[in-house]
Amino acid sequence: MIETSLADRLRRLIASAGPIPVSLYMAEANAAYYGTRDPLGRDFITAPEVSQMFGELVGLWIADLWSRAGAPPVRYVELGPGRGTLAADAARAMRAAALAPPVHFVETSPTLRAAQAERVPGATWHDRFADIPGDEPLLVVANEFFDALPIRQFVRGRAAWHERLVTIEGERFLPAAGPSVPDAAIPESLRGADEGSVLEVAPMAAAVIGDIADAIAARGGAALVFDYGHVRTGLGDTLQAVAANRYADPWVAPGDQDLTAHVDFQALGDAARRERVSLFGPTTQGAWLSEMGIDVRTEALSRAAPGRSPEIASARDRLVSPRQMGALFKAMAFVAEGWPQPAGF
Ligand SMILES: C[S@@+](CC[C@H](N)C(=O)[O-])C[C@H]1O[C@@H](n2cnc3c(N)ncnc32)[C@H](O)[C@@H]1O
Repeated sequence: MIETSLADRLRRLIASAGPIPVSLYMAEANAAYYGTRDPLGRDFITAPEVSQMFGELVGLWIADLWSRAGAPPVRYVELGPGRGTLAADAARAMRAAALAPPVHFVETSPTLRAAQAERVPGATWHDRFADIPGDEPLLVVANEFFDALPIRQFVRGRAAWHERLVTIEGERFLPAAGPSVPDAAIPESLRGADEGSVLEVAPMAAAVIGDIADAIAARGGAALVFDYGHVRTGLGDTLQAVAANRYADPWVAPGDQDLTAHVDFQALGDAARRERVSLFGPTTQGAWLSEMGIDVRTEALSRAAPGRSPEIASARDRLVSPRQMGALFKAMAFVAEGWPQPAGF
């Protein structure tokens, strides 16, 4: 059988049915990209892969919250766990506090599921968050998961806002303005923006965080989300592609590079707001890690392995420094009614 590349399939689809929404292009591209490879380290690096301290401090955050909540039976859930490094590091820190919950991974990529099974052999895998079984409280973690979920883009035209679509010109993909969208799709304060302005919305991210908030409101527990993005809803085209540790053109080679967009933490927080759930943050990743004691952990690791001290200090800086990941990346949490206030915020 001859294998057709995703780019060819999308070209054929657009040629026969017309331009497609950016969200469909992004969803198809990332499903193909993550489904067929482990990009971590090769195309980009994430916080848990920079240092074990990231996952350990997440584990400590969970163990502290759980013990102050009265140490109930719980389940650990991670969305988009990559290689399983965060979960393995967090599990080590949780075990030190006598917490060893069942581990559930929400992951669609068969390649990454295999990598996760090597690091966390006892985990259970699910395609969707809604499939997590049981009724115990959930402790939910997601790092750089929401930025990979498909976004819609709206572009301001002369008289109205339009959905941005993806079309083709010969072999090339390119964005083009589609039909106008109703005013209600655009926040009131942004409706009169200048021609050419771009607004991004992430309906799938809103749906997933809503499912998590519903589950936590009903079962108890907490969620901790890290991602890169902005604190307030704003204008701007943030769709980006990364391959081989470099930025690339998002309209080239769908399925062969990682497509992400900045997370709008105001919209994500709004989608998680529930009567029986309290929200914390967003704060910066640097501030959260500092509050959680990354400097104490840096010193302890350096004392235990003096030869690795410069490498440990440089990893700490990469995670915390505002010039590196410390300010662009944010942390946000929510906890169920009756659960204690989480550390780090
Ligand atoms: C950028 S990686 C982050 C990996 C990991 N959290 C880390 O910090 O190293 C994105 C992860 O989300 C997963 N993913 C992407 N889209 C998904 C979807 N729609 N459903 C479930 N998992 C998805 C990918 O397979 C991958 O594990």
